[in-house]
Amino acid sequence: MPNITINKLNELNLNKKSDTLVIGYFQDKPTKLTKVNEISGSIINETIKSNDLPKKLGEIVVLHTPKKIYKEFNYSKIFVLGLGESKNLDNNSLRRAAGNLGAFFNKSNSQAVNLFLDSFVNEDDNFEDLSKSLIEGFLLGSYTFNNYKSKKKNEKTEFSIMVSSDNPKVKVEELISRTVVIADAEKRARNLVNEPANILSPTKLSDIAMELSGEHLKCNVLSGEECKQLGMNAFIGVSQGSVEEPKLIHLSYKPNSEDSSIWYIGKAITFDSGGLSLKPSGGMVSMKGDMGGAASVISAIYAISKLGLNINIEALCLATENMPSGSAQRPSDVVKAMDGTFIEVENTDAEGRLTLADAITYAKTFNPKYIVDIATLTGAAGIGLGKGNISGFSNNDKLMGCVKDAGLSTGDFVWQLPLDPVSKKQNHSDIADLKNTGGRLAGTITAAHFINHFVKDTPWVHLDIAANMMSSSNDGWYTKGATGIPTRLLIELAYILQN
Ligand code: BES
Ligand code: MG
Ligand code: ZN
Repeated sequence: MPNITINKLNELNLNKKSDTLVIGYFQDKPTKLTKVNEISGSIINETIKSNDLPKKLGEIVVLHTPKKIYKEFNYSKIFVLGLGESKNLDNNSLRRAAGNLGAFFNKSNSQAVNLFLDSFVNEDDNFEDLSKSLIEGFLLGSYTFNNYKSKKKNEKTEFSIMVSSDNPKVKVEELISRTVVIADAEKRARNLVNEPANILSPTKLSDIAMELSGEHLKCNVLSGEECKQLGMNAFIGVSQGSVEEPKLIHLSYKPNSEDSSIWYIGKAITFDSGGLSLKPSGGMVSMKGDMGGAASVISAIYAISKLGLNINIEALCLATENMPSGSAQRPSDVVKAMDGTFIEVENTDAEGRLTLADAITYAKTFNPKYIVDIATLTGAAGIGLGKGNISGFSNNDKLMGCVKDAGLSTGDFVWQLPLDPVSKKQNHSDIADLKNTGGRLAGTITAAHFINHFVKDTPWVHLDIAANMMSSSNDGWYTKGATGIPTRLLIELAYILQN
């Protein structure tokens, strides 16, 4: 993690040599560059004449400082980040462009960046919001996971932000420290998802949650045996084929002891082989990420506690592997869930909903105000909506509205799908109350109906993130591998709902 320093332009030691200056360039507003020209020894002005500056949002042009002017100029090169037309700039487009910049910086030989904040924002725009998106995008785009690379690249250590003296409209220090907490949370979620399943077992995940706890964030872990005692047979059924012990992980942040809490429940399958309904090998490789929901709720509640938001949040993850073995649960088994529902397990690969059923019943014993569950639940989510939206479901329009708003501002877009009575019938079982699969049609919806059965009337949102948990390439603020979605959405939701 680079060390971030903040410099006011008028306090800048102009004789201090550094590596790379970074400025934003609006295609239609070269006039914005007066200040930039002051710091860049007019290099930018000269380049504008040659028409070589980036036209498109997210494009990067590198300018090398000619030797003869380096004496009077502090930077050996300038990265110019294209911002496109100024009227099209918003938080999501700027975060995307800044993500490209972060990835570019990572690959480059630059050791230090000096980002001139004012050059990225129009005078009449919301300086605070856009600056946050810019820094967030840069930090997320420069993420790498190199725990298992024997030869590690030198960590880039210097990240300085410059603001002109007449423009912080907000306290930049406060803004940046808040943004770093939020970006760190999403990076923590990425780390957890990228970690291979032989390392990140349910026990290891519970140890990590324990380590994150402290004065304001409490952590309680229950063993498999304790879960059995509570009647969580749907959860235990999933775990019984694995040698790894299942764990119930419960984090709580309750600044207002009187109020009821908002429960964030994350699916926490540390590896999903499918169980006896074994997945084909190609589809199994990414299943170390089947705890993406848990990664996001654990990371989000930690950030919410660090930010000191005035809202009670609880995070719950029922962690287990889903493995085939002589002791594994069989397709056609019937289990009695914690709330008494008999479930016919038609397919052991539809395990996420079984664990969520008991998680929701457990949460309901605490009388939650709202429940938001996040799960890498169905391959069908990607078939329906692709990767550009999270599939959302709800029994409460107000809560769903807040979740959609949170997603619009963080770029984790949520598209609501219906809980219609026709597809609900597909979960009918001939021999039990419910079965855990609903056939080929509307797979994302039938999974949501299944969860809704256990939620009943508690205001609830279900987010199926199966399509969004991994990215196949570096793209904007996403890097190849885990995305950490929807950690920032969950933090933003806490801001929206706080008292
Ligand atoms: N973990 C998978 C869903 C998944 C698929 C997540 C692809 C991320 C990427 C889930 O447990 C699963 O296996 N779902 C089955 C359900 C089916 C058996 C009803 C699916 O989607 O095929
Ligand atoms: Mg599965
Ligand atoms: Zn799964």
